[in-house]
Amino acid sequence: MTNLIIITGANGNVGFSLAERLVKENKKLLLLYHKNSEKIEKLSNEYPELITTLSTDISDYEKLKQDLSPLIGNNCNPVALVHTAAMRSIDAKELSESDPLIWQKVVQVNLVGTYNVLRIVLPFMIERNKTIKQSRHIVLFGSNVSRTGLPNGTAYSAAKSAIANLSLSLANEIGKHQILINTVSPGPIVIDASHFSPEYRKFREDYYAVMLKKTPLQRLAIPEDVVNLTYFLISEQNSFVTGEDFFITGGKL
Ligand SMILES: NC(=O)c1ccc[n+]([C@@H]2O[C@H](COP(=O)([O-])OP(=O)(O)OC[C@H]3O[C@@H](n4cnc5c(N)ncnc54)[C@H](OP(=O)(O)O)[C@@H]3O)[C@@H](O)[C@H]2O)c1
Repeated sequence: MTNLIIITGANGNVGFSLAERLVKENKKLLLLYHKNSEKIEKLSNEYPELITTLSTDISDYEKLKQDLSPLIGNNCNPVALVHTAAMRSIDAKELSESDPLIWQKVVQVNLVGTYNVLRIVLPFMIERNKTIKQSRHIVLFGSNVSRTGLPNGTAYSAAKSAIANLSLSLANEIGKHQILINTVSPGPIVIDASHFSPEYRKFREDYYAVMLKKTPLQRLAIPEDVVNLTYFLISEQNSFVTGEDFFITGGKL
């Protein structure tokens, strides 16, 4: 039976960087993407025997279940899930001026989407653990905004806080199956923002400038900083860390 690592948001900054690292170590990966797929398509062309890709919308439970289940169910041993997929606060508006539909959509993708992914993947992990006893690992992605708040991003911020809490509750439910779950909560990560709308780019640039001034390590994170911790958390080296929320902020509270 093949060990399988599932990564959502795999065409994104962190998801892709992790996928690249793991595939070079000969790990078998199931990579979930949304609309953009260019980076993981290139990677899967390089490693066709190790990578399976799936286009998904994590906010659609029934469709996700229908598409994802067969890929985990057949002769696979799901050893890790790294859930990076997320939707940004695209309208960047104060709550009093926000569009209720956009607000709900951000919570739907980020929070309900997290539930959907877990609801589908976890039963496979629990079932496999009955025959193959080993630690399995889940990493969810929160954000430092759960400590600081995010003006003009309340839906995103609220959903990220909820994800960390969901992870904590779940650690208590699934420890008995030897499944360890943790949240990784980065501060701002330096990424290519050229494809964002001018309005959202400005929002990010202003926010990043303030954050940089407050960061003791005097730089902002790059995806590799975040991948390093995630890599440890899903590795066999992580035998006893579960239910934690790790902030990666260069020392900024
Ligand atoms: N980057 C930061 O500064 C930062 C800071 C704190 C926390 N975080 C969190 O860290 C994680 C990784 O960040 P990142 O920079 O790698 O994010 P990212 O590059 O934006 O990647 C997120 C991925 O999620 C996918 N996605 C969006 N909506 C989806 C949906 N409905 N169904 C399935 N997938 C969907 C996106 O695909 P499409 O592009 O095709 O829509 C994208 O590839 C995220 O959870 C993020 O919230 C990031």
